[in-house]
Amino acid sequence: MIISKKPNFIKRIKLKKFKDKYIKLYPDYLQEEIEEKLFLGYTNNNDTINQIYCFLNLVNDNINAYKAFITILEDNFDLTKKVLEVGAGTIPILAKYLIDKKVNVDIIDPIIIFDKLVDTNIIKEKFTEKTNIDKYNLIIGYNPCGATEDMIKSAIKNKKDFCIALCGCCFLPNEYKNRTPKVWHEYLFDLAKGLGKNNYEIKFIYFDSKYKIEYPIIIGKRIKK
Ligand SMILES: C[S@@+](CC[C@H](N)C(=O)[O-])C[C@H]1O[C@@H](n2cnc3c(N)ncnc32)[C@H](O)[C@@H]1O
Repeated sequence: MIISKKPNFIKRIKLKKFKDKYIKLYPDYLQEEIEEKLFLGYTNNNDTINQIYCFLNLVNDNINAYKAFITILEDNFDLTKKVLEVGAGTIPILAKYLIDKKVNVDIIDPIIIFDKLVDTNIIKEKFTEKTNIDKYNLIIGYNPCGATEDMIKSAIKNKKDFCIALCGCCFLPNEYKNRTPKVWHEYLFDLAKGLGKNNYEIKFIYFDSKYKIEYPIIIGKRIKK
């Protein structure tokens, strides 16, 4: 859903310049997405389009959910510790905002294109349960889709805190093609509760309604004993 006003003439010029310069760097399926949707406006759910709008500074803070997510991280975790962001996206805009705030964050995603945006350790791989996360204190993701379940399992197995803004990609992995987002989110919550036992506080929190994001953020915090 589009949640900003339609971009005005100046914004459309900036978007067109971006498209002309960079579209060929994107995989084919994302080039189609950009061709179809770039000029419609900022959304509540299209990461490719939203990253471009944020990269070009075309988004008001009052609808920028990446920034809202950072506030949630600040409210719930100690961000002076080392963070791993999983599924950072083609333009790692969340990591860019975090690094601007001096957070020590590494990123992992096989399809990162704009490496130079962030001066940090960039891992162009798929995150799996086997990815070594020893050096991190907090594992985060903003709509990391297919990586979500492995993030929760790995974080709990390795005694790390985690915070993930869940998306609606409940059909990942593919064998779950009939699952609804709600069922998937409940499944993830129960999974985290089951694995975390009484060592973790697991909770769902939600974005403010102005962001028009219905999906929860799952928070997992190790209980200090
Ligand atoms: C919906 S996009 C979100 C991108 C970014 N977080 C954002 O919101 O702008 C999901 C991203 O997760 C990445 N992803 C999916 N599975 C992954 C995995 N197992 N390991 C790392 N990244 C993964 C995809 O490549 C994609 O960039």
